[in-house]
Amino acid sequence: MLDKYDVLLVVDEVICGFGRLGEWFGSVHYGLEPDLMPIAKGLSSGYLPIGGVLVGDRVAETLIEEGGEFFHGFTYSGHPACAAVALKNLELMQSEGIIERVRNDLGPYLASRWAELAAHPLVGEARSLGLIGALELIDPATGERFDTSLGAGNLCRDICFASGLVMRSVGDTMIISPPLVIAHHEIDELVDKARAALDETARRLANTPTPPLQETLA
Ligand SMILES: Cc1ncc(COP(=O)(O)O)c(C=O)c1O
Repeated sequence: MLDKYDVLLVVDEVICGFGRLGEWFGSVHYGLEPDLMPIAKGLSSGYLPIGGVLVGDRVAETLIEEGGEFFHGFTYSGHPACAAVALKNLELMQSEGIIERVRNDLGPYLASRWAELAAHPLVGEARSLGLIGALELIDPATGERFDTSLGAGNLCRDICFASGLVMRSVGDTMIISPPLVIAHHEIDELVDKARAALDETARRLANTPTPPLQETLA
């Protein structure tokens, strides 16, 4: 369809790039052939800030042939220290087999543990791929989404943060994106903390009297 109407495909690889889905790029997993790919985070594993946009031949050729002067230099573009860190990071990802480990070991292990959370009354759906996961929060009384005014996702996020679990909320969808070098026992800890946070979120949404957050999760 895109080819038919000569539309470029942009695939945002800021999160899915560099091993998160068990392939070098999310596009590989999904069999996509993007014309442009924004990249960042995993490029340096966050050790130093660096991002970019990869362009395919079609875009590059157009820029070269018709673009004239290509203004793309900003003050800190291509900073040598960040570029050196990114190169070393990519080298280590290759030599340590980090992506293969996500694909063959850590991803499947997270998938099996994460799926257990689907049994929680507050969870409508638990899904994961590689080392990214999400939980859709639902009201156990109705099986439907909570009223957005309740802020269930943000409540759950605050409870997670207080227990040392970095699980963010996007609306009432809880999301995790753990380090690619996480160990099995840390995945166990992550799932345990997520379950405890769901329990506490359910108690608070049901207005059950509870002690202050820090005491509950200490
Ligand atoms: C998938 C995705 N794309 C783009 C961005 C935005 O990146 P930036 O902070 O460089 O604007 C983010 C930020 O988290 C992201 O997760």
